[in-house]
Amino acid sequence: MLVRLQKFLAEAGLGSRRHCETLISAGQVTVNGQPVTTLGTKIEPGTDQVSVAGQPVRVERKVYIALNKPTGYLCTSRDTHDRPTVFDLLPAELPRLFTVGRLDYDTAGLLLLTNDGTFSLRLTHPRYKMPKTYRVEVEGELTPAQGQQLLHGVLSDGEKLRAEKVFDVRGSRLKLVLREGKKRQVRRMLAAVGHPVTKLTRESIGSITLGNLKPGQWRYLTNEEVRQLVGAQ
Ligand code: URA
Repeated sequence: MLVRLQKFLAEAGLGSRRHCETLISAGQVTVNGQPVTTLGTKIEPGTDQVSVAGQPVRVERKVYIALNKPTGYLCTSRDTHDRPTVFDLLPAELPRLFTVGRLDYDTAGLLLLTNDGTFSLRLTHPRYKMPKTYRVEVEGELTPAQGQQLLHGVLSDGEKLRAEKVFDVRGSRLKLVLREGKKRQVRRMLAAVGHPVTKLTRESIGSITLGNLKPGQWRYLTNEEVRQLVGAQ
């Protein structure tokens, strides 16, 4: 993924973005041996060779992982009550990763992890409206009118929450697509129409689906999948 040179330098630990801009303007930075003084020049980390004052800038390998999170795992890196976290499911040799958004302790399904802040922002910032699909089981049976309510928006704690799509409604089971990522959104929406959630699984994020990952299993995303996700609007 292409990134701006000053951002790349700042993320590699060369100082604030402002400072890195100064380094670029001052002619201290070369890309593939050529001095670059234009702010905003884009480079491909890991492919383009960037040096500052003649010293090569080393980059951490970017890692993108899809995990099928089981219930009973937290998305934080440490818990004060010593509960298991999703990081317990990954090998220790991986670079330091963070989760792309979160799933609740009791929610299962697709969770992405990375060490690429730009990638994470593209998937979680409300501006990009990344679609996420959830399989939901609720107490009682949802009526068609309640399905419509979810589409029009329900109020929860003074916030209007909307589903983009409600489908495959069969008694107490349904699927939802959200393009918003508010805290505990699915649980709050279903509670607002009188059907508390009993089971929640995220099936997809953009074009990435759980596929045949079993609970607790993970895999690397392919370059093509990463490209599709950051290109998607
Ligand atoms: N909505 C929820 O309520 N919980 C999740 O974990 C994800 C979406």
